[in-house]
Amino acid sequence: MGERVPASQSDTQWSNWQLQHAINNEKESIRRSWGVYDSPLEPGIIFGRGASFSDTFSVVVPEEEASMRTDIEHTLSSVKGDVIGIEYGGPASKLFSGFQKGTFTRTLGLTLVDVRSSRQKRKDKERNHEIIPGDMTTPEVQAKIAEWLGGEKPSLIIERMKRGLSLLPKNAEYHANLMAGWYGMLREGGLMYIQASDTLNLYLKTWAQSARLQSDDTVNVLVGYYDNAINGSVRLEKKLVLH
Ligand SMILES: C[S@@+](CC[C@H](N)C(=O)[O-])C[C@H]1O[C@@H](n2cnc3c(N)ncnc32)[C@H](O)[C@@H]1O
Repeated sequence: MGERVPASQSDTQWSNWQLQHAINNEKESIRRSWGVYDSPLEPGIIFGRGASFSDTFSVVVPEEEASMRTDIEHTLSSVKGDVIGIEYGGPASKLFSGFQKGTFTRTLGLTLVDVRSSRQKRKDKERNHEIIPGDMTTPEVQAKIAEWLGGEKPSLIIERMKRGLSLLPKNAEYHANLMAGWYGMLREGGLMYIQASDTLNLYLKTWAQSARLQSDDTVNVLVGYYDNAINGSVRLEKKLVLH
């Protein structure tokens, strides 16, 4: 595992130690270490309230759409060619299997450790789903993502790390830059569904307003709060621009 690129001088040893601790825990027991892991797109009988991605992001689904799933499926239906989906901070095996067949050409999950069974790996392979394990903030993992993308751009980027967010530097600017980086990768006509960190939560509405102003009307941003303003979420659409 490569060293993290520090967000500031204070984000060094402590954050690397926390990260190593999380990796060890994830190897030993996923449920104990995270509470939620490989969550489904939509709620079902087995998973309780709040576990599914749809639960978290219901607050930012546009009014005219029935759910996060239909929003993504409808929005991406006009994207031609390779349709790529990426989850930052999760294995995404269940997440991407919740969409209608054919929504994506290929998908990727980025999680600290790949703990899948060989059966799960087989099922994922059939759906063109892969996992790149490791710390997504390191240049090593970022190079692997670029290699996997092979010059293509993702049409959907999701991040819903929940407790995993606490492993990242507690600095609003760092999180705003992370989102800006993902936005830069996103294909035109694509979507991002992002859970905000505690620190960015405080500035989320201001952040959204400045994103709107700076984008020259090329972006649709919705922000919302789940669970009494504790968990902020963002839905961001990079509009198709006629060149
Ligand atoms: C609480 S789990 C959530 C998993 C999934 N998103 C879900 O909702 O079921 C946190 C996830 O964040 C991942 N994670 C935490 N820090 C990470 C990092 N620096 N790079 C990649 N993944 C990370 C963990 O490996 C784990 O998969």
